[in-house]
Amino acid sequence: MSVVRFGVSIERDLLQALDEYVEDNGFANRSQAIRRLISDNLTVKKWKCNNIVAGSVTLVYNHHKNDIQIILTDLQHDYHKLILSSQHFHLDNDNCLEIIAVKGKAKELTELADKLIAVKGIQHGKLSMSRVD
Ligand code: NI
Repeated sequence: MSVVRFGVSIERDLLQALDEYVEDNGFANRSQAIRRLISDNLTVKKWKCNNIVAGSVTLVYNHHKNDIQIILTDLQHDYHKLILSSQHFHLDNDNCLEIIAVKGKAKELTELADKLIAVKGIQHGKLSMSRVD
């Protein structure tokens, strides 16, 4: 595969964030990190389709924050047809880990995950999916 060079203009703090990402993930250089970021994002786009997929939504949050638990429960009820099960782990006095097993159309699971992850107070959120059809 031939490699093409191109110039990029980027804000200073975003570049600093990129350098931290390079360091944290042990990439050899910025180019390698950017290739990974682009590739991951394009892969995610492919999930916005009608294929039936199964996977999980992982959430980490402080349950004292706002009405976070009520909001998360409401959302899961709204999408109950997609949810196979959920597990809640009390990590310490404040923090919770929730793993929600899901199955359904990729774009619907993406929609649910986006809403869950966007809830104010979510410290970490990730959707992973595997095609099952
Ligand atoms: Ni908890």
